Amino acid sequence: MRILVTGGAGFIGSNFIRYMLARHPDYQIINLDKLTYSGNLENLSDIHTRKSEVVNRKPTHNSQLTSLSYRFIKGDICDTKLVNGLVKDGIDVIVNFAAESHVDRSIMDAGVFINTNVLGAHVLLEAAKKHPVKKFIQISTDEVYGSLGSDGYFTENTLIAPNSPYSASKASADLLVRAYHHTYNLPVIITRSSNNYGPYQFPEKVIPLFITNALADVPLPLYGNGLNIRDWLYVEDHCRAIDLVIEKGKEGEVYNIGGNCEKTNLEITKTILKRLGKPEGLIKYVRDRPGHDRRYAIDSTKIQRELGWSPRYTFEDRIDKTIEWYIENESWWKKIKSGEYQEYYDKMYGESRES
Ligand SMILES: NC(=O)c1ccc[n+]([C@@H]2O[C@H](COP(=O)([O-])OP(=O)(O)OC[C@H]3O[C@@H](n4cnc5c(N)ncnc54)[C@H](O)[C@@H]3O)[C@@H](O)[C@H]2O)c1
Repeated sequence: MRILVTGGAGFIGSNFIRYMLARHPDYQIINLDKLTYSGNLENLSDIHTRKSEVVNRKPTHNSQLTSLSYRFIKGDICDTKLVNGLVKDGIDVIVNFAAESHVDRSIMDAGVFINTNVLGAHVLLEAAKKHPVKKFIQISTDEVYGSLGSDGYFTENTLIAPNSPYSASKASADLLVRAYHHTYNLPVIITRSSNNYGPYQFPEKVIPLFITNALADVPLPLYGNGLNIRDWLYVEDHCRAIDLVIEKGKEGEVYNIGGNCEKTNLEITKTILKRLGKPEGLIKYVRDRPGHDRRYAIDSTKIQRELGWSPRYTFEDRIDKTIEWYIENESWWKKIKSGEYQEYYDKMYGESRES
């Protein structure tokens, strides 16, 4: 099986590639990634060392793929010529992770979110229409459903009602993907997962941001009153679900993937501080994110019933493993948390934003 993974140098994509190569050594994986600020080849350094040579945007070299189980190609999913060249050479499955993924950045500037998340998805869909694939998996998010009150769950039938430019761009892509199934019979599947956590997550997202700040004794900027609720899913559980969707998922369907683990941001913050033996005085309440969704909670009954998936890991166990990973990989995040990233951080959480 030949899989084109887009955005494979990011958090979930890199975990997915590692997961798939370990479980399916006979699969060939082509990783197309633009290496934006959140794309990092260090996330795959073990695989790169072992298995690949880096090819810099040379789709004509695609014919060599048969001799390698993994190849990295630096490039943009919006580049029609590049994408067509790759898909034309014979791809069985496209898994589209490539995206601008941070809500706060989408609030500051939505343009790049529309380009990559919507127009990029369109380029991939067109390539799959021209050069048929067996499956096209669109990695989406529970954020497309909007916000819940204190009860209820998102099911696959919940109407989409995105509230941030990020979730609106993901919802737009979902609609395009759906339309390509209905109009052109493209074998698409959409997965919508809840918040992921685990190793290699860019430290602008709340769990790695708070772990790394706490490790450095720097304040943890908590939005509003900290009572917004998210459902948390360990990244490997997500990867296993996508593997099953590739194998057994039904064309034209949407599958919700949740961790069955609702926590307020304040609970998450206190857990991290406690596990690290740091004082709660490090919490710094900052002005809330505009339009901040109150609660996400996912009903994953469908994927459990139809594909036999359920989360294997508990939050209590995996948050410890995740914290350990960031302790052991200090040089990975210290490199990231400097330079340009520091400028962004100061703008987001500097004194002027204190509540
Ligand atoms: N992180 C979560 O909790 C979560 C939850 C649900 C869904 N998702 C979805 O999963 C996917 C991956 O999320 P993530 O957290 O790993 O994001 P990430 O920001 O860590 O990784 C995104 C990757 O996409 C690449 N990329 C961005 N623009 C590109 C382009 N134009 N062409 C090619 N590559 C490009 C980046 O370089 C990066 O490697 C996204 O589609 C996101 O919407 C994430």
